[in-house]
Amino acid sequence: MDLGVDRSYKVIIGSGILLQIGGLTKNLMGQPKIMLISNPLVFSLYGARVVDSLQGAGLAVSIALMPDGEEYKSLEQLRLMLDEAVTAGLERSSVIMALGGGVVGDLAGFTASIYQRGIPCIQIPTTLLAQVDSSVGGKTAVNHPRGKNLIGTFHQPALVLIDTDTLNTLAEEEFQAGLGEVVKYGIIYDYELFQLLEDQAEGLRNREAKVVQEVVLRCVQIKSQIVSRDEKESGLRMILNLGHTFGHSIEKLGHYKEVKHGQAVAIGTLMASILARNLGYLKAGEVERIAALFKRLGISLQLPAYSAQLIYEGMLNDKKVKDKSLRVIVPKGIGGYDIIINPAADILLQAIKELAAYQY
Ligand SMILES: NC(=O)c1ccc[n+]([C@@H]2O[C@H](COP(=O)([O-])OP(=O)(O)OC[C@H]3O[C@@H](n4cnc5c(N)ncnc54)[C@H](O)[C@@H]3O)[C@@H](O)[C@H]2O)c1
Ligand SMILES: [Zn+2]
Repeated sequence: MDLGVDRSYKVIIGSGILLQIGGLTKNLMGQPKIMLISNPLVFSLYGARVVDSLQGAGLAVSIALMPDGEEYKSLEQLRLMLDEAVTAGLERSSVIMALGGGVVGDLAGFTASIYQRGIPCIQIPTTLLAQVDSSVGGKTAVNHPRGKNLIGTFHQPALVLIDTDTLNTLAEEEFQAGLGEVVKYGIIYDYELFQLLEDQAEGLRNREAKVVQEVVLRCVQIKSQIVSRDEKESGLRMILNLGHTFGHSIEKLGHYKEVKHGQAVAIGTLMASILARNLGYLKAGEVERIAALFKRLGISLQLPAYSAQLIYEGMLNDKKVKDKSLRVIVPKGIGGYDIIINPAADILLQAIKELAAYQY
């Protein structure tokens, strides 16, 4: 990840590389005190390997577990983690390490970014979504009762270690949620990745190690490229929101329970693709091609019977509606993008309604 000399960091991707974390940390940072943040589920699966590796390298590690679930990405939990950091005696040279999905990663990153005005954070993402998206790029956040990710910071990690073997224990719907983001990268930025996904859809769906690694690597490269050109989301980084303006509205209508984030993004991406076709940005057949890929990857595009009008109104209330203008990212050909500012209500409603034709 290239952010100029001072803040660039390595993203290491491989299979079975959790055991290298001790040596890597020591090479990079010397002898820091470490606080490992995780949740009980992930810690029971992978905690021992990480702790053994750290201790084997002679590093002191304390453990802070948070409960599992998006509802714990909260200010209250942030406070508890800061308490843990104080109790563990972390210093400016200490390191906070995040072992888990995006929830653990966002909370641990936030804690690291404000403890003693900021200490280094090492991310060890264990969900597909966290590996291809949330662990890279430096955004951290907690939720506010009035909205998701409303409070947060930018704090780039010192190192990201991605062990793709950890995905083998991930629940199917969580894996699918990550795939929604993977397809997003292909559609918006990288036609070759899209073709690779088409070629290897079954292998990816079955989590074949080689395919998963190749796909994760490409996604991390794309995210790094985009973030290094626009770290604080003033322009280009916005294209990563493909499908998200529709998706956030859908998630909210289901109170963040009925439709998972990645599924909402997949549905939103298809809506954006339909919109693009209706505007002449996609050729005949390309929407079908995108829908077919989602289907082969096993991603459900089932949308509960929400009214199109409510989805549309939710989009207008999205926090990303800057300066009161609605910006919708659409594909321009597969592998390219455009940003539509304030699309007319009727063309948005039309795209939302047309999704029904692609549900299966
Ligand atoms: N910071 C960013 O740039 C960014 C980007 C995208 C999403 N996010 C955030 O990420 C969060 C979603 O992350 P997520 O989808 O990883 O959800 P999550 O962290 O809740 O993980 C999903 C579930 O999988 C479990 N799990 C994690 N790793 C596992 C493994 N290897 N085996 C078995 N189970 C495992 C978790 O305990 C949890 O129950 C949201 O809060 C979202 O806002 C942040
Ligand atoms: Zn997303």
